[in-house]
Amino acid sequence: MMKGRKDISSELTSKLEKRKEAGQLRALSMNDPSLIDFSSNDYLGLARESDVAKEAFEILEEYGFAEQNGARGSRLLNGNHALFDKAENFLAHYHHSESALIYNSGYTANIGLLTAVLTRNSIAVYDELIHASLRDAIHFSNARSYRFAHNELEDLEKKLKKVRSNFPDSPIYLVTEAVFSMDGDVAPLRSIKQCCQEHNAYLILDEAHATATPVHSEVENEVKEFAFARILTFGKSLGVHGACILSSLSLREYLINFSRSFIYTTALAPHCIATILASYAFLKENPDRVQLLEQIIAAFRAEIKRNELQEHFLESRTPIQSFMVRDSTKTKDLENELRRKGFDIRAILSPTVPEDTERLRICLHSFNTERSIRLLINFLKHQIWTYSSPV
Ligand SMILES: Cc1ncc(COP(=O)(O)O)c(C=O)c1O
Repeated sequence: MMKGRKDISSELTSKLEKRKEAGQLRALSMNDPSLIDFSSNDYLGLARESDVAKEAFEILEEYGFAEQNGARGSRLLNGNHALFDKAENFLAHYHHSESALIYNSGYTANIGLLTAVLTRNSIAVYDELIHASLRDAIHFSNARSYRFAHNELEDLEKKLKKVRSNFPDSPIYLVTEAVFSMDGDVAPLRSIKQCCQEHNAYLILDEAHATATPVHSEVENEVKEFAFARILTFGKSLGVHGACILSSLSLREYLINFSRSFIYTTALAPHCIATILASYAFLKENPDRVQLLEQIIAAFRAEIKRNELQEHFLESRTPIQSFMVRDSTKTKDLENELRRKGFDIRAILSPTVPEDTERLRICLHSFNTERSIRLLINFLKHQIWTYSSPV
């Protein structure tokens, strides 16, 4: 510690100690590129796709930004320009929405949307497994909130009924995810829509892990003319950074005026906006990328079935596949064991997931091979007595 600088208080030290004792301490580690990537969110390999980089540079040149590094200000001051217009018009049109508004990340989009929309008079009803960014946003807002059991329509119906009868005039916002970030399952959107209709609730849907994956068109068809707001992120399948909120023009205007994480921050650099456009253009030219990912997911599920390991994995038809261990120390040990075998797969511990649901989160990519899937599943098969606790 530097001379004269105060260290963290004893209260904070003891919080860290508790984490260590529970085997839940988080620490930064270096990526090892020699390992097989079964952990990044770069589902389609676009983060390192040279054609996307080349196309982004061409867009930057076309718009006169080839030599501009930063945005130079917030969107409402110097940071706005024609590339934002181009990208937001494209996103709105492509995703069948009246409008799109770009945010610096999915985290800030969720915070900015919910803290602006959830007033003291509002009610948030949310799935118990929503992402930390949505949870934080609800917590930071002034609204009353009620959670429902994960993807359980009966419980949702019960909560909505109760809330509606207690607060007949309050706006109710139903907050959920299309593809859940840790379990990888898909929300029953048709029934959720019906619940919203029945109880006059606004649907807010986080599509971070659905964006540009094989299930996205299904999700989009279900909610495109219904959702009050949809959050898409560009740091996962699209391999870039940033997010957008798809909504009506009036909600967009409201957010530009009242969403603090949109207003009080430097805009994304032009390079980022150009790369978002380039990634979409690449996918239009190469639709086989998403199909390849779909095949890899099918191959992975088939291998689980062939080895009769279904009870050790959560059910999922998305790139996110969870191998349940249900113990922090064992999950970390298994992560290290896999690393020694050449696999990069991360342990997900409490409090990121509820206690007793610690797991390995296996992320599948279009560039993974069927051979490496076979090797991985075969390895896990021989570890289940030591590590896994069935679902
Ligand atoms: C469901 C969900 N929403 C939002 C976010 C945040 O997105 P970003 O990484 O762009 O901040 C994540 C990221 O992990 C996520 O999984």
